[in-house]
Amino acid sequence: MKNVRKAGDAPIPCQLEADKNYAWCSCGFSSDQPFCNGNHKKEDGTDPVIFKVEEAKEAYLCTCKQTKNPPYCDGSHKN
Ligand code: FES
Repeated sequence: MKNVRKAGDAPIPCQLEADKNYAWCSCGFSSDQPFCNGNHKKEDGTDPVIFKVEEAKEAYLCTCKQTKNPPYCDGSHKN
């Protein structure tokens, strides 16, 4: 079982560019939240989620790592 930890108590609003690949940190060990900085390798954490958006937009990306809709916040941090 890979490690996951909570990296924050609220999502981070991010300006996403169209057609750019992003790596959302799913393990919570990155110090560059909400994005992966490679720390999952040394912490035996879960792998990042690679995603992109078709149109530039602002999105609230999950930091609690409990979301059921990664990389987006689904309100799970309030549970
Ligand atoms: S550092 Fe968390 S997924 Fe890479």
